[in-house]
Amino acid sequence: MNERTTYAPARAELLGNHTDYNEGLVLAIAINVGTTISGSGRADTQFNLSSEGFPDSWSGWIDQFTPQKEPAPTWPNYVIGVGQALQSAGVALKGADLHISTTIPIGSGLSSSAALEIATALQLLKLNPGKELAPLEIAKAGQWAEHHFSGVKCGLLDQISVLMSKENHATFIDCRSFEVRHLPLGEETEFVIVHSGVNHALDSGDYNERHADCSEAAKLLGVPFLRDVTPGELEERRSLLPERVYRRAVHVVGETARVASAVSCLAHGNMDSFGKLMFESHRSSVENFENSCTEQDFLVNFSAGFDGCKGARLSGGGFGGATIHLLDQEKTAEFSAVIGDAYEKQFGRQPLILKTKACHGAH
Ligand code: GLA
Repeated sequence: MNERTTYAPARAELLGNHTDYNEGLVLAIAINVGTTISGSGRADTQFNLSSEGFPDSWSGWIDQFTPQKEPAPTWPNYVIGVGQALQSAGVALKGADLHISTTIPIGSGLSSSAALEIATALQLLKLNPGKELAPLEIAKAGQWAEHHFSGVKCGLLDQISVLMSKENHATFIDCRSFEVRHLPLGEETEFVIVHSGVNHALDSGDYNERHADCSEAAKLLGVPFLRDVTPGELEERRSLLPERVYRRAVHVVGETARVASAVSCLAHGNMDSFGKLMFESHRSSVENFENSCTEQDFLVNFSAGFDGCKGARLSGGGFGGATIHLLDQEKTAEFSAVIGDAYEKQFGRQPLILKTKACHGAH
């Protein structure tokens, strides 16, 4: 049978940390590394998965799609979880031979999992035509795999930005209405992404703990989600919350407010102010959400002292992984060299550095 290829990029979160599952606002971009799946359909119901970037392979039948647990490789969960979700959405799934390759550094917080989910969803929809799914439904199939096969109670930031991003634009997502808008970033804007090498594993429990703190905050404030509180209202009702839960709420409520300000910065081409919001976001991660680490703090602090880096922050779930740095194009080469050297001097190893513009979503 004919082989088909699908591709889904990694994403970087520009602003709006942990806002998605609180029904808040977020800004993201797709970046220039990604996951490719070559696939061919089968007449039976067997799935054979092989990969270059992930360890081992996986074979099983469609009716054996159950979450894989360690010590077995767990990456197939993102593929078979999506398969299961698509079946529930009405896709008549047949077997497939899928070969996966990726250029996304695993554990970097750049959403290798969402890229795998979305490349899988597009591949399986191609191999099993007949049922059309809207982009939001495709994104939700990926989220379903995270919730039920990987155990991470994530929002939809990753899947939507991987699927729907646009070249040279920031992807704005309202995680309540799921309105998605593309806001021009300007030709000159380039990003440097630095992977600290501290691997972030969202299924380690920290992510779900933060999620629980946010739900607790909303409950104590008497609102459905933290999206329903403004920074002013949160201050007025601070006494309702235990100290830790209050700080978690300050971060999330502040992030949605910062995204709203950032949208207006983009409308006016004011990238300097946009960058300041990124620095503020990182400070709030450190002080309020406690989802940064020493290495990420070093990278962001270094950027604050580099003339030409407008803003920097951790990107994604946190607890290790990557930082994102906003620069003018002519500064990226110099910045990449000096930040790599400074990091090596401090931690004894070179970090992984990627230069990227905002890229197009999956296809
Ligand atoms: C991870 C999750 C997303 C989002 C970010 C933090 O990437 O998968 O849903 O919550 O963390 O903003």
